[in-house]
Amino acid sequence: MTQTKRHIHVNAFNMNCVGHIHHGLWTHPRDRSSEYGTLRYWTDIAQILERGLFDGIFIADVIGYYDVYQGGVDLTLREGIQLPVNNPWLIVSAMAAVTQHLGFGLTAMVGAHHPYTFARDVSTLDQLTNGRIGWNIVTGYVDSGVRGLGQDGLAEHDSRYDRAEDFLELTYKLWEGSWDDGAVVADRARRVHTLPDTVRAVVHDGPFYRTNAIHMSAPSPQRTPVLFQAGTSSRGLRFAGKHAEGVFIGAASPEAARVASRNLRAAAVAAGRAPGDIKIFAGVAVVVGKTQAEAQEKYAEYLTHASAESGLAHFAASTGVDFARYGLDDPIPYGTGNAIQSATQTARQQGWTTRRKLLDQFALGSRYHTIVGDAAHVADELERWIDEGEIDGFNLTRIVVPETWQDFADLVVPELQNRGRYRTHYDTGTLRHRLFGRGDRLPAQHAAASYRRTEETA
Ligand SMILES: Cc1cc2nc3c(=O)[nH]c(=O)nc-3n(C[C@H](O)[C@H](O)[C@H](O)COP(=O)(O)O)c2cc1C
Repeated sequence: MTQTKRHIHVNAFNMNCVGHIHHGLWTHPRDRSSEYGTLRYWTDIAQILERGLFDGIFIADVIGYYDVYQGGVDLTLREGIQLPVNNPWLIVSAMAAVTQHLGFGLTAMVGAHHPYTFARDVSTLDQLTNGRIGWNIVTGYVDSGVRGLGQDGLAEHDSRYDRAEDFLELTYKLWEGSWDDGAVVADRARRVHTLPDTVRAVVHDGPFYRTNAIHMSAPSPQRTPVLFQAGTSSRGLRFAGKHAEGVFIGAASPEAARVASRNLRAAAVAAGRAPGDIKIFAGVAVVVGKTQAEAQEKYAEYLTHASAESGLAHFAASTGVDFARYGLDDPIPYGTGNAIQSATQTARQQGWTTRRKLLDQFALGSRYHTIVGDAAHVADELERWIDEGEIDGFNLTRIVVPETWQDFADLVVPELQNRGRYRTHYDTGTLRHRLFGRGDRLPAQHAAASYRRTEETA
């Protein structure tokens, strides 16, 4: 089958902390992640990414911390495994001020917010960035976070998605339906800022949330932010099929990506949408050099700073399994788990059945698939993932910050551009328009569109 060559979408994958995916690398002499508490760190990253024509920066966030491995938080603290961790939303204005096009995919956990105030936070940032905001909708997977929020433990896996459904329905009503386009006229002569008959209260009485109030913000360029999501359990798929515009998958191979991609696109169709209404991004790590030998050398040097055990501690939280309780070669009995079911699925599919196998796999401090080579080799592999995996792009992990993304921009981007696989300039418009090329707002077949005010409902 001949494939038309589509541009590959690339986000930088980051988190507002020291150790994100490749644990231990914060000790590398060139790594700047320890500066995460400064604005300069974030504005430097944003400018590097925009020079590299990245689609956006995708910032993970976890409410809580990893205390499954060894039944405690000691290793997490010693190795800086996503703790301490700061809020990803509060750094966006600074990055937006020094860029014009870079998108922001920001994680927020449903149970940590009230939809009424959250909707305003998003509208505010979407206005300030001129429509560059995406929301990575997560339902939470660690008990420590919900203990912090005053609950005894995580709600059952599927019921977390039920809460998210209710949360989304309410925020759609606020973003899409509370204010008409053109409500704000700011007419000084007539002393009318907002036309009163163009704004209305949202009445919502759902299983988890109630509201009877006007959305506090005027419409932002995209109204609803670009909706990202990451679950691929059966309940997660159904949720993604209905809501997600971007899905982030943790596939270990193009074959695994293809299975996830087909399932996701089928779920979109089942929800009355088109297969292409979801853009699928795989997480991947890239070590690139000017030659294959230089890349291998760089990789070998990175390995000397990595902590496979910390990668294991991270994965323990993702699966809910305390691997420290098993001998190196004991078989690990993965259950379904109440944490991330897709992580458990990956472990089973890949045959990561013992601690030894996991540690081998996590040599670079993480479970992410790693591509090492010169620009031509990296581009070959990325194209293979796109074509065989039937996906749209990548979330590129950071190994050494900002070196990983700088190398990608300097070496891989020109190679992909020569192959017609990467943009050579940014198109104008919002994040949604640049992803789908069909305007700033969600299309009519998306669930959110039903909450818009039409002539009929007016
Ligand atoms: C690749 C990937 C990235 C994720 N990133 C986050 C994150 O940043 N924060 C978070 O709380 N959960 C994150 N999750 C967890 C998901 O949001 C979701 O809660 C989890 O996958 C459970 O869904 P599932 O069982 O349907 O897979 C991620 C999951 C995957 C697979």
